[in-house]
Amino acid sequence: MLLNFNGEVALSEWLAEEERPRLLNVRTASGVPQTLEVMIEPVGNDYLLFGELNAVEQEHLSREVLELNHELSNLTREFAQSNAELQLVNSKLEQSQLQLLQSEKMAAIGQLAAGVAHEINNPIGFVNSNLGALKGYVEEFIFLIDAYERYADANGTATDQALQAVREKVDIAFLRDDVVALLGESRDGLERVRKIVQDLRDFSRIDSPDWQEADLNAGMESTLNVVWAELKYKAEVVKRYGELPPVRCHLGQINQVFMNLLLNAAQAIEGQGKITLSSGVEGLWAWVSVEDTGNGMTPAVMKRIFEPFFTTKPVGKGTGLGLSLAYDMVKKHGGRIDVTSEPGQGTCFQVWLPVAGPETPPA
Ligand SMILES: Nc1ncnc2c1ncn2[C@@H]1O[C@H](COP(=O)(O)OP(=O)(O)OP(=O)(O)O)[C@@H](O)[C@H]1O
Ligand SMILES: [Mg+2]
Repeated sequence: MLLNFNGEVALSEWLAEEERPRLLNVRTASGVPQTLEVMIEPVGNDYLLFGELNAVEQEHLSREVLELNHELSNLTREFAQSNAELQLVNSKLEQSQLQLLQSEKMAAIGQLAAGVAHEINNPIGFVNSNLGALKGYVEEFIFLIDAYERYADANGTATDQALQAVREKVDIAFLRDDVVALLGESRDGLERVRKIVQDLRDFSRIDSPDWQEADLNAGMESTLNVVWAELKYKAEVVKRYGELPPVRCHLGQINQVFMNLLLNAAQAIEGQGKITLSSGVEGLWAWVSVEDTGNGMTPAVMKRIFEPFFTTKPVGKGTGLGLSLAYDMVKKHGGRIDVTSEPGQGTCFQVWLPVAGPETPPA
């Protein structure tokens, strides 16, 4: 190897033991420090300088560099892996937190429905049968009174006059009409209570299997009745249901989606507005929409509505979970939710579900 030394080498130092190789630290052209094994050979009046890079050390160094490199890429890989694991754990945690909240909400609603159903069903049973009997009795009373009347009209005696006085006192004409009207009204009232119980049962599906072929229009109807108290003073509800085939779904969950959409629609309306409920079918997909004439959303809000805990409502009014739960439930059904909104004009949420259940390929 040809060496090109810059600077002075103290050759005098070497001369005494010129036969012995010396180690010389030099900086190579590339700038990397190296050790040279150098020997000096006197040739006539001159010296011949032999030198070579210390192969062992060089090898050692490059091995070390290689090992370090290897270690570094291992560490990087490990780091990336634990990062991915962390992300997975994090999203699982988020998921199970949502599921927990969702099942808590469902359990609460289910319990409420079961409780209400139990509480109301018993009295309804006996009041209803009592009323049936009472109606029969009253009809017999009326029959008897009619007979008295007929008797009085035919004879016109003193007894008749006494009867006449009693009849005037009790206003028998009014009683006769009103007793029947009251009984009819009571029966209507009871029928309404029975309907509430039925709606609660339908809404929570406490007595149905999880997955079923369900009528989404009926689901929307029973949900609407359950939240009616929240809606009736704020909005006129217009129904434009189309004909739907039975849709394979978990109706309890879908009703919860409808409930969140209905409540959001009502909450978006300040003063008085309109909520339009529509449904239809396109190919293998059924859809149900809730449209309101509320305050609408800006694009910035719309981008975030499905995020858990995102809410624009005051503290204590909204948890920001309604739509994220709805999104999750519809996704589990293989469906999707489309949203259109215009600030100041209103919003339309359209839920799309595959008629045959989650396995249907996306539309
Ligand atoms: N129909 C709508 N019109 C206008 N804005 C809406 C409508 N539906 C949802 N939003 C917006 O999306 C946000 C998130 O809705 P989401 O139902 O998830 O939570 P929330 O209604 O705020 O609270 P929660 O439903 O948990 O009580 C709302 O705070 C609101 O800003
Ligand atoms: Mg909501």
